[in-house]
Parts: sequence; C-alpha cells; structure tokens
Amino acid sequence: MRFACNSHSGGETTERDETMTVDLEPVARLCQENEERGDSLVMLLQEVQGHYGYLPQEVIREIGERLEVPLAHLYALATFYRSFSLTPRGEHEILVCTGTACHVRGAPGIIDHLSRRLGVAPGETTEDGLVTVISVNCLGACALGPVVVLDGTVHGNMTLEKVDFLLESIGAGVVQT
Ligand code: FES
Repeated sequence: MRFACNSHSGGETTERDETMTVDLEPVARLCQENEERGDSLVMLLQEVQGHYGYLPQEVIREIGERLEVPLAHLYALATFYRSFSLTPRGEHEILVCTGTACHVRGAPGIIDHLSRRLGVAPGETTEDGLVTVISVNCLGACALGPVVVLDGTVHGNMTLEKVDFLLESIGAGVVQT
C-alpha cells in the first residue's frame, strides 16, 4: 500500500470483460505456487483476485477442485474479508476507512459525499464501471484520519474538497444532487 498527501495515482486498469470465458490456466499456476510455498488460502485468494480483479465463480470452483477444499469454505473466506469481491470491480477503487478514529474525524461525511457524487453506495460500482466505493475498517493510519485509499494510494486528512480533487483526477463524479 502506498501513501500520499495530496498527490494522486494514475490508476491501473483492471481486465473486466465479463463476457469472456475465464482463463483458468493462471489459477492452476497460482494454486501450485501457493502449495509449494505452503501459503494460506487467504493468500491464494488475494493473488487470484490480484490477477482477475475479482473472484469469478469458475475460478473459485477450480481452486476447490485443485486443492480439494469445500466450496462453502472458499465462499466463507471470500465473503468474510471485505477486500475480496465476487463481482467485477470498477477500473478505480476508492476505500473509505470507517474505523473509529476516521469516523469521528468525518468519514460518514466523506461516504455521503462520494455517494452523491458517484451515485453509488459503499460496496457498489458506478454504472460506467469506472469506480467502486468500499467502506473498510481501520487501515492502521489513524493519525491521518479520515483516510481514503484510491487505487492503493493512501490519502490522509481528507476533506470533501480533497475527495473532489481525487475524483477529478480519475475523471469521475458527474452525478450531483
Ligand atoms: S480508523 Fe481509519 S485508519 Fe484507523
């Protein structure tokens, strides 16, 4: 995770073509590497999500078959951790910390502002697939609260004006009320 004050990242583009058949070859490789290292299933899911941008059903099924892990267990992990997503996420990802320190420093106002600007609630992706907004628990940077993470870059001491700046930097935020 990167940290920044007022700078912004360019943002990486995630492959999001839902109509394509999912290529399962990378799953086989990632499963094998994970087994060789003896890493946890959570680590594997993180790597798989890093590759696909989310956790497609076919991929979860493939992991279950290859590692002989019950699907129920994989789905339990995939839905327990907010960092995982079972649906494609936007090209850009905005995480808003709603932990206690950030909450008292204005996180609810930032969530409201983002919802108005983007027309989505936390956990949703804008209709154009550009941005996904996610509320998360403490990110461990409480002194910087309220904290927003745009595409992996941490922005602290956020204000509504700074949120607008971040949205502008990715060409988002046309919905107004
Ligand atoms: S509460 Fe937000 S970073 Fe700790």
